[in-house]
Amino acid sequence: MDKGQKFYITTPIYYVNARPHLGHAYTTLVCDAVARRRRMLGYDTFFLTGTDEHGVHVERSATASGTPPQKWVDQVSAEFRALFDKMGISYNDFIRTSDARHKRGAQELWRRLQEKGFIYKGTYTGQYCVFDELYVDAAGPGAPCPECGRPTETVSEENYYFKLSAFADKLLTHFQEHPDFIRPETRRNEVIAFVKSGLRDLSISRSTFKWGVPVPGDPKHVMYVWLDALSNYITAIGFGAEDQDTQARYQRYWPADVHMIGKEIIRFHCVYWPAFLMAAELPLPKNIIAHGWLLFEESKMSKSRGNIVRADTVIDVLGNDALRYFLLREIVFGQDGSFSFDALVQRYNSDLANDLGNLASRTLTMIQRYFGGAVPYPSPLVAHAAADDAIREQAEATVADFARLFDDYQFSRALETAWSLVGAVNKYLVEQEPWVVAEKEGEENKARLATILYTAAEALRVVTALAHPVLPESTVKIWSQLGLREISKFNLTDLKWGQLPLGGKLGKIEAVFPRADKTAIERMQQMEQERTSSSAAPQSSTSTAGSAAPAQSAATPAPTAPASDGKITIDDFMKVELRVGQVKFAEKVKGADRLLRLEVDIGTEVRQVVAGIALAYEPEKLVGRKVVLVANLQPRKLRGLESNGMIVAASVGDEGKPVLAGFLEDVPVGAKLK
Ligand code: MSP
Repeated sequence: MDKGQKFYITTPIYYVNARPHLGHAYTTLVCDAVARRRRMLGYDTFFLTGTDEHGVHVERSATASGTPPQKWVDQVSAEFRALFDKMGISYNDFIRTSDARHKRGAQELWRRLQEKGFIYKGTYTGQYCVFDELYVDAAGPGAPCPECGRPTETVSEENYYFKLSAFADKLLTHFQEHPDFIRPETRRNEVIAFVKSGLRDLSISRSTFKWGVPVPGDPKHVMYVWLDALSNYITAIGFGAEDQDTQARYQRYWPADVHMIGKEIIRFHCVYWPAFLMAAELPLPKNIIAHGWLLFEESKMSKSRGNIVRADTVIDVLGNDALRYFLLREIVFGQDGSFSFDALVQRYNSDLANDLGNLASRTLTMIQRYFGGAVPYPSPLVAHAAADDAIREQAEATVADFARLFDDYQFSRALETAWSLVGAVNKYLVEQEPWVVAEKEGEENKARLATILYTAAEALRVVTALAHPVLPESTVKIWSQLGLREISKFNLTDLKWGQLPLGGKLGKIEAVFPRADKTAIERMQQMEQERTSSSAAPQSSTSTAGSAAPAQSAATPAPTAPASDGKITIDDFMKVELRVGQVKFAEKVKGADRLLRLEVDIGTEVRQVVAGIALAYEPEKLVGRKVVLVANLQPRKLRGLESNGMIVAASVGDEGKPVLAGFLEDVPVGAKLK
């Protein structure tokens, strides 16, 4: 790693249609740890986060609650910022897409794309998914969105298009020439496959709502939210700014070194964003790193699934460092990982309260007791043992291994390495028994005691320096107990064995990680319950996960009002033919993440049904399963496949997660439901 350079790292900007939860906190604290380490390595680091505030969802949610959109976004954006402040996130700037500076920069990007000839006007008539902000080609009125299964709305719009199709080859060449551009490898392969399957031009303006950045020269249109949002990475650092100082900041920091994102938004970051930048002749970011999801109770933590945990809850009970350590140590970065209160408390008690906490408290207490609180002088000759060298060698290896792993985004393994040093030093203390040596008379024993405690304290200093970006609060305390000052200003490139000032006076010794007792879990669960019941509960409803309209989300109001009293007659209901079917075959539909093609036996025949359940069910696991089918629907085409009927499922939350209807007792295939 080169010294004295700049390092620019970004989080995605967070939607303001959900309150912040641990999933958002995860990306942000990962970036924070990386930014802190880079600062300690001497990099001129710029860390950006912020909120994504435009779009029809926000406009509708605000209108529905009778609040002007700006006021609405001000409130939720402030919540994100307050949380990040509470978490001690060391961001250098917090961009909001409703900021004037952002709008100016986004419009400047638009102008560049236009000047270079990559924007043209066209008309789109067809289906549009409000939730995914996506045009759904070749679909009829009311057709479900191929991405999320929600009903699409029919729109006819004159729009501006971006010539995305012109960039397929250029993107593929860039991916090939920069193998590290997208990480990890699996995501890179996904993106390459997507680009190879062909790129169509992208509609980049909307005229059906107002809450967005006006298109320069044509304010009837607002910019497509993703073009608007992605440009935050340059607008925040001064792209399009009027004054020269701010422009200089852009020159200094762009291109970004790292865009850290969740895996669900790779297409936007790895295809659209580089294509926009290429078209505008701007440099591309160096690395786009996609991490996995934080799962809670087996599924992605998200507001719509109603399974979120707030970062506040953990912080209020165990503190910031406990949360940071757990997420970075427990989750293999890049993969999905589960969060649970049990695992959190277990990890906290074993690694922090026990291992590091004990090492610090016993080493420092003994130095206090036996050497009057002054770092003892080790004795390299008379009182020296092979075990001392082993600790020193392991500490030196740890500095190198930690750097290699952490800077390669393998946080969990980096921490594992550092904690094996902690374990080794604790074992060393048990074996060397300084408390027994202290009881013995004579200079040699005194020298031996000094060497043992010096070795332990020096190893503690090394671990503390390495762990600072992950445990910013507690390492400050340990550092000052070691008698050292300003850990964040310590230059990590200088970290070497033997730098603990001999004779240096220790600071006041206090326990850093009090043990968490059983009530910690209960308290956190209780706090979550209270917080959930005081905020709006997610909606659940029953719907169909086939070619019919799935549940309405908060973002998609019901298209038609029900009959006067909202009720139907039994005759109306009897018109619907519901039958028990059994899945005989299931496979993913190519090019549609959410669709499965099923062959369903309904007793009298085997039907082909295309169902929007792929994100919730693996095709292999469905074979043999009994389902409920609406059997007398008119056939309809989805992605070129005829769908004959629809599968009944509960639609959970406003993301509409499908959960298939089923029976507790065994039922024969073909049985009618009434
Ligand atoms: N606004 C867009 C991003 C625009 S960036 C130009 C967006 N916002 S989001 O709020 O829905 O999600 C942003 C990020 O939050 C995800 O990419 C991911 O980094 C993080 N996470 C949200 N839920 C998460 C989990 N359950 N687990 C891990 N990260 C999650 O997409």
